[in-house]
Amino acid sequence: MQKQRRKFLGFLAGWIAGALQGCNFIEEKELIAGQLANLAFEKYWLREFNGKRIIIFYNQGEPYTLSLVCTHKKCTVRYRASEGQFICPCHKGRYDIHGNVLSGKPPKPLAKYKTIIRPPYVVVLNQIINEQ
Ligand code: FES
Repeated sequence: MQKQRRKFLGFLAGWIAGALQGCNFIEEKELIAGQLANLAFEKYWLREFNGKRIIIFYNQGEPYTLSLVCTHKKCTVRYRASEGQFICPCHKGRYDIHGNVLSGKPPKPLAKYKTIIRPPYVVVLNQIINEQ
């Protein structure tokens, strides 16, 4: 009887954890985005972190990560590599490659995530490091 109860409680705990994760109630603390050597070669990566789209760049030996969520009305901005700019499809807001507002309605820069190198990986932490 006690064995069945333990088994049931284990099942229930697993089910609840899975349900919470599926609903994005549990946020990941970090994302291992990939190997640094590949980022240097590929220029940028698009990833998803805690249900949000992000972009990771490599600049002068340092990786950095920006949210792709527009700070105006939360549309997903698109990166135009040829211009080195982000353009929001909703109201045409523009950001530079570092996420600073160039023009349009966005009231503040794109959120920037703390990004570290944990050899050989680039790791994005769930920590916004610019003013939001
Ligand atoms: S939602 Fe991006 S400019 Fe309005």
